[in-house]
Amino acid sequence: MDTGSRGDNAAKGAPGEPARWHPASVALHWLTFLLILFQFWVSGPMLDEKRDLLSRFELYQLHKSVGLTVAAFVLLRLVLRVALRQPGPENDNPWLRGAASLVHAALYLCIIALPVTGLLMAAAAPIQIPTLYFGLFPVPHPIGPDPAVYRRMLWLHDQFGNILIGLGVVHVAAVAVHMVLWRDGLLGRMWFGRRWS
Ligand code: HEM
Ligand code: HEM
Repeated sequence: MDTGSRGDNAAKGAPGEPARWHPASVALHWLTFLLILFQFWVSGPMLDEKRDLLSRFELYQLHKSVGLTVAAFVLLRLVLRVALRQPGPENDNPWLRGAASLVHAALYLCIIALPVTGLLMAAAAPIQIPTLYFGLFPVPHPIGPDPAVYRRMLWLHDQFGNILIGLGVVHVAAVAVHMVLWRDGLLGRMWFGRRWS
């Protein structure tokens, strides 16, 4: 099968195209990844009913603050994506290119939907608990208490979390195929280094 892989060219970049993502986009990609790992991890002790209420309250606040930070990072990343030159397609095969774009778009959708549903869930919760951004200032809740909206947002938040895990597995598997089978150095495009040859 023609994988359309550009071999070493993927690491060098086609003429007129940067060889890798801008360092700011690279930093935001990996920071977002780490913060999302943290979000999944912290939801365990946060929801653990055996823990004392005060520490759970603090973990909820941390989860909400980190989640809103992810939202800000994603928005900044999308702005940079439009404003800065990005590397060309990682593949010449239109089907594989389409599949990659679809997975990337779905990843963006999830990492935007999670903070949005999270904030709406916190806002619509029957028991009103303020969202304090790292204890610095209260984040305005866009809606008031509403049990039906709360339940829907809770469900959606959970589902987007599950979908994100599935997409993450596909994303990492695709990177592994590039690196191990096609040996085109794709991972280097999402790391720091010289952008122009
Ligand atoms: C990328 C960002 C986020 C990720 C990956 C994430 C992930 C998760 C996960 C995995 C859970 C546990 C779900 C379960 O097991 O039922 C959870 C629960 C929760 N999240 Fe998030 N979250 C994010 C952002 C936010 C934000 C921004 C808020 C609010 C401002 C928020 C509020 C909550 C709340 C209140 C719960 C507890 C739900 C319950 O009572 O069961 N999350 N989140
Ligand atoms: C929560 C986890 C992750 C999310 C949400 C995520 C999201 C994304 C998104 C949306 C893109 C597309 C960038 C764009 O077109 O603007 C991307 C690119 C990329 N990601 Fe991830 N990523 C995650 C984890 C990882 C991991 C663990 C790896 C490494 C194994 C990885 C390696 C890459 C690479 C190499 C690219 C560049 C692909 C290219 O240049 O065409 N990502 N990621």
